[in-house]
Amino acid sequence: MRVLPIATAKEVLDLLKDDLQAVEREFGQQSNSEVGVVRDIAGYLIEGGGKRIRPLLLLLSAKALGYNGAARIRLGAVVEMLHTATLVHDDIIDEAETRRGRPSANTAWGAAKCVLAGDWLYMQSFHTALEERNFHILDLLIGLTQDMVEGELLQMQKLGHLINEEEYFDLIFRKTAKLFCVSMQLGAALAGADERTEQQLGEYGRNLGLAFQIVDDVLDLTGEEATLGKPAASDLREGKATLAVIHALERGTGAEREAIRTVLADRNFGRVKHIAILDILHRHGSLEYALDAARAYAEAARQSIADLLSRDAGSAQALRALQWVPGYVTERKF
Ligand code: IPE
Ligand code: IPE
Ligand code: MG
Ligand code: MG
Repeated sequence: MRVLPIATAKEVLDLLKDDLQAVEREFGQQSNSEVGVVRDIAGYLIEGGGKRIRPLLLLLSAKALGYNGAARIRLGAVVEMLHTATLVHDDIIDEAETRRGRPSANTAWGAAKCVLAGDWLYMQSFHTALEERNFHILDLLIGLTQDMVEGELLQMQKLGHLINEEEYFDLIFRKTAKLFCVSMQLGAALAGADERTEQQLGEYGRNLGLAFQIVDDVLDLTGEEATLGKPAASDLREGKATLAVIHALERGTGAEREAIRTVLADRNFGRVKHIAILDILHRHGSLEYALDAARAYAEAARQSIADLLSRDAGSAQALRALQWVPGYVTERKF
């Protein structure tokens, strides 16, 4: 296994600061609808912030292959707009009241307007992507959107039911990891990379995205709303069995399995408390098991691009930054 040089957080920030600011401006300009309510909702969503990890990946992927053209900023905004649209719809579906530490858009404007604002953002992201006049880029984005919608629908079908690991991984690939994968592939597409390189960078994104969602699911179980900026323990209350819970279900005693089943079926902690579920997860090392899985995917992400060679100083920096991101994803607290 190759040992790869890893950038520091400061180096990554210095490398991408100007680009990320440009993506922010682009997102703002792209959200300038003639209709006030669309502008208001989009403005509110942009202001809410967020980690901006998807544009960060796209920018690093393009840079790693030596591409520094203006389209990287547009496509950076495209993946963030698309992500924002999915969050608006996700919060309506999950009836989530908070997001990014503030009332969610559906709390502020109501679900009906937000469904439409989400659609508008989706279409605006495609509109922006269309500027490249590149069918491959559209192909990637359309396949992605279908996968994400299928992921959310599959998840809905499985609410309240016990699912196995295979079903869990299929679901989180579609709803989360595919966008990470496509963000990397879009960077490669801009750089005119060959199919193999695009696939390799996509593989990095897939592995990283799986790690990202596993961590999100662990944080949902163990984190506090004040840190997360969104409701805690919401997955159990929504009837969603995530990796740690699936692990405990496979190993628990009859009574423990019954307790988990009760929460998933009731979708509340009336009969079985959140703390009782956490006790079960701790007893079986289930949270550690999930975090270990996330760490393994993070390492797999690093290895996916281990043999990429830098072309110039800029691409060397970007490759080192791509080696930093997996650690950021597994260590994050929100
Ligand atoms: C939230 O994504 C949805 C998931 C895939 C878990 P992020 O955690 O990237 O959300 P923001 O953009 O930083 O708020
Ligand atoms: C990610 O899943 C949903 C999307 C891909 C939009 P979650 O439902 O876990 O996301 P959060 O926890 O609400 O951010
Ligand atoms: Mg949600
Ligand atoms: Mg979540």
